[in-house]
Amino acid sequence: MTDRELINLAFTASERAYAPYSNFRVGAAIECSDGTVFTGCNIENAALGESICAERVAIVKAVSEMHTDFLRIAIAAESENYCMPCGSCRQVMNEFSEDMDVLCARAGGGYVSYHLRDLLPNAFSLSHD
Ligand code: THU
Repeated sequence: MTDRELINLAFTASERAYAPYSNFRVGAAIECSDGTVFTGCNIENAALGESICAERVAIVKAVSEMHTDFLRIAIAAESENYCMPCGSCRQVMNEFSEDMDVLCARAGGGYVSYHLRDLLPNAFSLSHD
C-alpha cells in the first residue's frame, strides 16, 4: 500500500467522526506488518475528557483483533495545518511499534512523514522496567 492510499483511507475514516463539540473531524488508518489496515475516527463525549482521538480508536481496534505490529499510521483532517498526533496518542503508538512511520495530512492531501522516535524521543516504554 502506498502512503497516498493509506492517507486516503484516513480521510475516508474522518467522515465518520463523531465530533459535535470541536467540529474537528479526524481520521486515522494504521497498517500492520501483515498488510491489514485498521481505521478510526475521533469520538467525542459531552464529558469532554472522555473523548478519544482517531489514532487511538484505530489502535484499540487493531490490538483487540490481536494486531500489535505496526508499520505506518496515517492521520488526516481537512485542516489548514498538518494533523499531528497529540502526546497521549504518541505514547500509545510507542507501546506497540517504536519504529513506525507517522504520516500527517492536511486539507488538499499534502502530508509530512515522521518516524515515531522523532516525535517521542526518549520514550518511557516496556523496556524501562
Ligand atoms: N484529535 C484527533 O482525533 N487526533 C489528533 O491527532 C488531534 C486531535 C481530535 C480530538 C478531538 O476530538 C478533536 O480532534 C479536537 O481536538
